[in-house]
Amino acid sequence: MDFNSSIRYVNERLQIDDCELEAIIAETGTPTYIYSLKRAGENYRRIRDLFAGPGARIHFSVKANGNLALLGALKEAGAGFDCVSGGEIYRVLQAGAAGEDIVFAGVGKTRAEIDFALESGVAWFNVENVAELDYINGAALEQGIDRARVALRLNPEVSAKTHPYMATGHGSAKFGLTADVIRQLWERQSRYSNIDFAGVHLHIGSQLGDIKATSAALDRLLELIRPHPQIRAINLGGGLPVAYRFGERAPALQDFAAAIAPRLAGYDLLLEPGRSIVADAGILVAEVLYVKRQAGQLFYVINASMAELLRPALYGAQHEIVPLLKTEGEAELAQVAGPVCESADVLARDRLMPPLRVGDKVAIMTAGAYGMTMASNYNARPRPAEVVVEESGDRWRVSRRRETWDNLTRSEV
Ligand code: LLP
Repeated sequence: MDFNSSIRYVNERLQIDDCELEAIIAETGTPTYIYSLKRAGENYRRIRDLFAGPGARIHFSVKANGNLALLGALKEAGAGFDCVSGGEIYRVLQAGAAGEDIVFAGVGKTRAEIDFALESGVAWFNVENVAELDYINGAALEQGIDRARVALRLNPEVSAKTHPYMATGHGSAKFGLTADVIRQLWERQSRYSNIDFAGVHLHIGSQLGDIKATSAALDRLLELIRPHPQIRAINLGGGLPVAYRFGERAPALQDFAAAIAPRLAGYDLLLEPGRSIVADAGILVAEVLYVKRQAGQLFYVINASMAELLRPALYGAQHEIVPLLKTEGEAELAQVAGPVCESADVLARDRLMPPLRVGDKVAIMTAGAYGMTMASNYNARPRPAEVVVEESGDRWRVSRRRETWDNLTRSEV
């Protein structure tokens, strides 16, 4: 059975590319995130080929996965990067990218982060506050930068069909600037001696459930920029959806491309996909600690939790959970729970699960995006190790060591 071109059962054993997961885990232990660089690269190229025209560039959204080995592989494949903090810029530079590969976004950039971004020579600032512009202008002047390139982020007042925590384009959201503010800023652009107002940015949400809202938002954006010939670039953010459950059909990326690309002739298109590049390239492997029957329910308590993968607790997200070794026997409704002291710490509720025993290993699927980046040390849990399977498919390595108890206390004084 194949989950995708990289993750599949071969002789009843789950593999990632040509590496058997049991063999990796035997060396690394659990919980461990494992990423297929091959799959991430394929996803990147598929999106690039669907949307790319002359001048188009795909900036991988680092908030989805900041693993240095992964960032390095995407850089080699030609990707740029969407960063939302000085820390993410630092990470991307560490991974070998250059400032010109970076777009710097965020609703609350600090002055220190803006200074660092200018020093690093980032390609674009996606701007969401008027006061931020003043600061960028002054800092660019001070640093002797002729013009910092800015894309004002439009809040198009369009509600995306997605989880409310992932929608960003409705009028009451904290994100972006309304069209009237953007128009005023463009009218007054001569006041900003060191800013090049060359772009406009839009991101209405993540895991977008349909194309209609994106299309409506794009209508508003095109209407806004039509009278402004200085706008050369349109950054349409991220949000391309993926399927998390077996049999689920997310809107096809081709349909997004068909609705978007033909309308952007004459502009440079920038995209910031995160999830659609890495989600299905990664899994989190955990181990069954206890099997407990209580109050008519079957609990599998595993050694991964909301601290390692927050998405189920935060969004009610549903990740498939499958054993590394296919098991015989009747599937049964179960709760797959983590050890954290929170009732929200259930990774799968009322889920048909194959019979599992203590010590069995399971893979939590589609965990490559917003898994490790949202992991915490809650309950003083060291964060998991990360493994990458190289693009060749037959070699793997630990790209980030498992945290230790020493890591937990090291910064305390
Ligand atoms: N660009 C901007 C301005 C964004 O805010 C985001 C995501 C992206 C790009 C990348 O979106 P993607 O292509 O990955 O959908 N933690 C959540 C998702 C929140 C995403 C926030 N912004 C999750 O676990 O699903």
